[in-house]
Amino acid sequence: MSPRLDNHLALDHHLAAAAQRFGTPAYVYFADEIAARLDGLRQAFGRWFAVSYAVKSNPNPALLGWMRAHLDYLDVSSGGEFALSQQAGWDPAWISFTGPAKREVELRRAITANVGELVLESLREARLADAIAAELGRVQPVLIRLAPDRVPKGFGDQMAGRPSAFGVDVEDAADILPQIAALPHLRIIGLHIYSGTQSLKADAICDNWRIFMQVFSDTCAALDLHPEKLIFGSGLGIPYHPGEQALDLAAIAQTIGAELDAFKARFPDARLVLELGRYLVGPAGYFVTQVVSVKQSRGSRIAICDGGLNNNLAASGNFGMVLRRNYVMHRVDRDPSDACETLPHDISGPLCTSIDKLGGAVALPRLDEGDLLAIHAAGAYGPTASPLHFISHPLPVEVMVLGGQLQDITRLLGETG
Ligand SMILES: Cc1ncc(COP(=O)(O)O)c(C=O)c1O
Repeated sequence: MSPRLDNHLALDHHLAAAAQRFGTPAYVYFADEIAARLDGLRQAFGRWFAVSYAVKSNPNPALLGWMRAHLDYLDVSSGGEFALSQQAGWDPAWISFTGPAKREVELRRAITANVGELVLESLREARLADAIAAELGRVQPVLIRLAPDRVPKGFGDQMAGRPSAFGVDVEDAADILPQIAALPHLRIIGLHIYSGTQSLKADAICDNWRIFMQVFSDTCAALDLHPEKLIFGSGLGIPYHPGEQALDLAAIAQTIGAELDAFKARFPDARLVLELGRYLVGPAGYFVTQVVSVKQSRGSRIAICDGGLNNNLAASGNFGMVLRRNYVMHRVDRDPSDACETLPHDISGPLCTSIDKLGGAVALPRLDEGDLLAIHAAGAYGPTASPLHFISHPLPVEVMVLGGQLQDITRLLGETG
């Protein structure tokens, strides 16, 4: 739990109030916590980097709207995310558009709307974008996404350093980039790398940024490119499981600061941007589910809840994890007198499949029917990264807590009941 949300009573008061007013299963997002996390990022890295928020991590429209006053840029990865961002009031000029399989219709909409930059991931995409820009009589600013040939150990998800769908492999850059540079209706204004994410290892993050700086320097020299923007995919991870330690941003800044200073001096006209999603929103969100039934089965106490992997796939261990491990979770209590004996519980969702399991042998105060369970680190890759329609249970509500006030910001309205 973050230091700012470690006041259990205050936290549980909001979680219980959200469940009571809007129902469960519920995602509850604390906007003030997102703001505090952003402050932390700016304090540690603000002298080098602006911050770009990856919409994929949580595209809730109300959050995107709130972010307008806080974030520098957005990165979208589909025409759908681009439309959501525009509807939330974002000026397309502040949006970059990544994604390895951009379709013609998405490129056309983005170019027509004056997207800030297309982040090109292939020659195919560059030619298509050039043809569309030519038709519209425009020159479209682009960044080129590069895939380095190595990613240090310690990233939960690796997008380069091996065969990968993402970006132009650095080995092919000398061949492909000049061809993109020659397209008359595109203007290369910079480069982009997102090669790994969910790292809790400060050294791995620093090593990865060193690789980025090397790749950016080499590529700019080879292309004679004077970049206006260089995007660093942060890779910053968050603790999900008991015992994991949050990153110390100040220590990262301390370790790599001198190198970033030198890099910035080498590219004085380039805006350096840190692109990230989960670091900002993940720990600011909780998934609240209610115990529907408790079963004592062959020595195990099983709490069966109204939301499971259908709502929170990641917590069930089925979103890119090799092994399921319990997320941090707690029973939502209203006051200290709720304290009672702690027992191991298995936590199941409502689905008729044995993989719908949110916890195994979790030590929790005794759960009974009607109790609320809060799963932590649920602010990123939640509802939109889950198979919401599987077995047709109600969709989760989404609640934003801002200045102590609760607001229903549910995006995905479905059948309830
Ligand atoms: C291009 C790109 N940008 C940003 C992100 C966001 O990553 P995270 O939410 O882990 O910060 C990803 C994650 O896969 C990505 O592929």
